[in-house]
Amino acid sequence: MTVPKLALSDNTGEALAKTRADVVVIGTLQGEDGPLLAAGAAAVDAAFDGRLAGLLATLGASGKAEEVVKVPTLGKLPAGVVLAVGLGKEGDAVTPEQVRRAAGAAGRALAGTDRALVTLSELDLQAAVEGTILGSYVFTAYRSEKGDAPVAKVDFASPSAGTAREHKATLKAAGTIAEAVLVARDLINTPPNDLYPASFADRAKKLAEDNGLEFEVLDEKALKRKGFGGILGVGGGSSRPPRLLRLAYKPAKAAKKVALVGKGITFDSGGISLKPAANMDHMTSDMSGAAGVLASVVLAAKLKYPLEVVAHIPLAENLPSGTSYRPGDVLTMYGGKTVEVLNTDAEGRLVLVDAMVRAAEENPDYLIETSTLTGAQVVALGNRTAGVMGSDDFRDRVAAIMQATGENGWPMPLPEELRADLDSRLADLANVTGHRWGGMLAAGIFLREFVADGLDWVHIDIAGPSFNTGSPWGYTGKGGTGVPVRTIAAVLADIAANG
Ligand code: BES
Ligand code: MN
Ligand code: ZN
Repeated sequence: MTVPKLALSDNTGEALAKTRADVVVIGTLQGEDGPLLAAGAAAVDAAFDGRLAGLLATLGASGKAEEVVKVPTLGKLPAGVVLAVGLGKEGDAVTPEQVRRAAGAAGRALAGTDRALVTLSELDLQAAVEGTILGSYVFTAYRSEKGDAPVAKVDFASPSAGTAREHKATLKAAGTIAEAVLVARDLINTPPNDLYPASFADRAKKLAEDNGLEFEVLDEKALKRKGFGGILGVGGGSSRPPRLLRLAYKPAKAAKKVALVGKGITFDSGGISLKPAANMDHMTSDMSGAAGVLASVVLAAKLKYPLEVVAHIPLAENLPSGTSYRPGDVLTMYGGKTVEVLNTDAEGRLVLVDAMVRAAEENPDYLIETSTLTGAQVVALGNRTAGVMGSDDFRDRVAAIMQATGENGWPMPLPEELRADLDSRLADLANVTGHRWGGMLAAGIFLREFVADGLDWVHIDIAGPSFNTGSPWGYTGKGGTGVPVRTIAAVLADIAANG
């Protein structure tokens, strides 16, 4: 992955005369009678003798969200081009997400540019940095023709409020967070013939070593010895055996302990309960939760959160074969509970509870689990809103933070009456209900059966939001999105600040 080189410049007025940028990015707002210039654009407008808004209107610009219009400067500025990007309608104030999306649209349009000066940072520095980096990302590892490279260098105009020191810290944190999102995207976008449990483990080991994390990998023999029946059952059908990873960031002074668990099915065919052929390729993304928590524990170390953060990552490939687990099998999960498998395509919950029970052995203060768990999540909430379940207070806290980041999660209940539908004829629990109703919630209830009373935990179902099968929008390209890395980062920061 190539991340643009980031720098902080003076405010737009000071920076404009001496910038070596090829393109200056300004924001526009959608006014009643045409585009308006956002803060940060005033100095650029001065170079156009105050006629920039009129010029943009003549070119057909409206200021609507993500609109991109390029204007040649014809020597009025050292930079050759002004790129005007729409922020959309202004409410009480321009929101961080408006800035992030506009910066993302600009980041996409800057492909092939060597150096840009982004003035959207005068509205919100963190959002401008995140949006620009995320928007400029492309995954070309498997293309012979790489096309236009992402913008190589980006200077961000300093906002008027705050000190240079604060701005530098914000730039560094935002850049590091955005880079963590790209770490997750790269993993998700890597195809399943190259990314399987052992190769994922190798990549995680490299990241752990580079960032001073404790690292442990359990292979299939160790999993068997220790009794991880869920992971072994699901992974049994593949010639590429399962793994369970543990990565720990342990700073000298840690106020709280946070456990992270992420679903790592490197490909989900459904197993013997085989999925239909249409769109089965999307199941390359069934390890998005694993990618997200791996990127997040690395991020915790990079930003030195005063928290102990431990990621547990179950990895398996769900395939049909002569060694696959079957509908009708009973698995003994880590910790001893038994589960009757009624559908081998409900595999995520089986690998997850093994990892969650193990995570809880270390007595964390919080348990954050995330997974591409159910198609029902997509039916209920669509492609851009995650389902957030768990213990009441922590669930609401995480959902609120997720909305603030622009990653958009919504709190969901775990209705009591669905629990009985998971009763099994012969085991402690069945892995599915046998009906379609409330499928996202039933999966959450299954997980809850393995969470000790009193532990603050959250389950974030990212089946839809983790992978963009449509066109690029805002700062989200096609493929892996990296949701919920920014949410986990913000939750960790919130726990560090407030306990
Ligand atoms: N990985 C899928 C869920 C999924 C579906 C993720 C669509 C992303 C997009 C999961 O393992 C699965 O197959 N779930 C089943 C559960 C069912 C058998 C109870 C589903 O949702 O159909
Ligand atoms: Mn499945
Ligand atoms: Zn799955």
